Amino acid sequence: MTTTLSHSQTEDIVRENMDYTLFSWSKQQGIDPIAINRGEGIYFYDYEGRRYIDFSSGLMNVNIGHGNQRVTEAVMKQMQEISYVTPGCVTDVRGKLGKKLAEISPDGITKTFFTTGGAESIDNAIKLARLYTGRHKIISKYRAFHGASYGAMSAGGDPRKLFSDSQQAPNMIHVEDPYCYRCPWGKEISTCSRECASHVERIVEFEGPKNIAAIIIEGESGSSGCIKYPPDYLSKIRAICDKHGILFIADEVMSGFGRTGKWFGVDNYEVVPDMIATAKGITSGYLPLGAVMVSDKIAERYNDQVLWLGLTYSAHPVCCAAALEVLQIYEDENLIDNTREMGNYMNRQLDALKRKHPSIGDFRNTGLLGCIELVKNRRTREPMAPFNAAPADMAIMNKVAAKIRELGMFTFVRWNYIFVAPPMCINKDQIDEGLGILSEAMAIADQFVVN
Ligand SMILES: Cc1ncc(COP(=O)(O)O)c(C=O)c1O
Repeated sequence: MTTTLSHSQTEDIVRENMDYTLFSWSKQQGIDPIAINRGEGIYFYDYEGRRYIDFSSGLMNVNIGHGNQRVTEAVMKQMQEISYVTPGCVTDVRGKLGKKLAEISPDGITKTFFTTGGAESIDNAIKLARLYTGRHKIISKYRAFHGASYGAMSAGGDPRKLFSDSQQAPNMIHVEDPYCYRCPWGKEISTCSRECASHVERIVEFEGPKNIAAIIIEGESGSSGCIKYPPDYLSKIRAICDKHGILFIADEVMSGFGRTGKWFGVDNYEVVPDMIATAKGITSGYLPLGAVMVSDKIAERYNDQVLWLGLTYSAHPVCCAAALEVLQIYEDENLIDNTREMGNYMNRQLDALKRKHPSIGDFRNTGLLGCIELVKNRRTREPMAPFNAAPADMAIMNKVAAKIRELGMFTFVRWNYIFVAPPMCINKDQIDEGLGILSEAMAIADQFVVN
């Protein structure tokens, strides 16, 4: 339903939100949230009718695009029947969803424990890895974000945790990322010896392989800047895990459900993890749902041992109904093939933009999980804003971000990164429209390039 409001009515909505609700990751004063009224496909509209092209699919979760009424109908149907059952009871949608997940996941992963979101999936995967192995340490990457609950936040290394890490969950060990554009070992991908993988192997030795329950790694990196893995990196991690009896947990919260052009990010590397922790695209953000999918070997253990996991909203029927419909939409609308095709198109268009904009240092994408990295100097790779930039360091990037919004685009600008992750139903014309906006905004950054 379209409701167009006046500017002052919209201001009332914003004021009420700001007076009575708290906003994530920001000072509460001085923010300027968009008051969103409705969405359709890759666009959403504010209450005054202004259109925004959503180039980050919300929080990289609205994979099928906004406003798909098939999901509304599936949810309504489920609610007309029953909205809630305890997790000890079963529903048609829960079983069907579990079966569908088994079909699309890598071979040997057939059972799912449902959660309500990404961080909860990570927390439960960590807990299960510790229960299953009887070991306590978890290895993950410094730049990864695994969620904001205490366990997931401690597992991640993203600097958002630094403000509250004094009480973080113990036994989380971090390793460097395989960040080829800024290789920590000063190597080039074409000639290196995968120092990024031997580094992990060394840390495992230092920490005591028999103390390590799991290595958690995103199926493809997201908010850390879409740091694309060297092609053999994940298989090397898999080999380290196999050698030492360590579980491989793939965090597919952002990279799952077609975002990278395959059902799961790990499918691009033909690696089979022991667990997949996921959320976001499972319902395309229409309702909150997460999942921990486990290997048959792990599942079998709990045939005659108690699975010490539980949540009031595990396998919530309405969320399962939404997910089941969303998974069908991925298939009916060929969205995963489209993601691969549009990802390739995006890549080609970005090559052209690189020739035009000296501020583009790097563009990395897998399917439609992509990120442009802006630099002041291509040779030195000095970033347009540093890692974990303080507000004062964000002056240029804030101007870029303001331009993006002024031109009617919503996407994330973080430090020197601009995220390019539109809904998977996007077409070439719409990509061109979005890149046209980004090009205008990046012209601002070009002025600060020094040679
Ligand atoms: C890779 C990854 N893992 C976990 C999470 C946490 O998910 P949630 O915000 O649903 O808790 C996120 C969120 O962005 C994510 O990108």
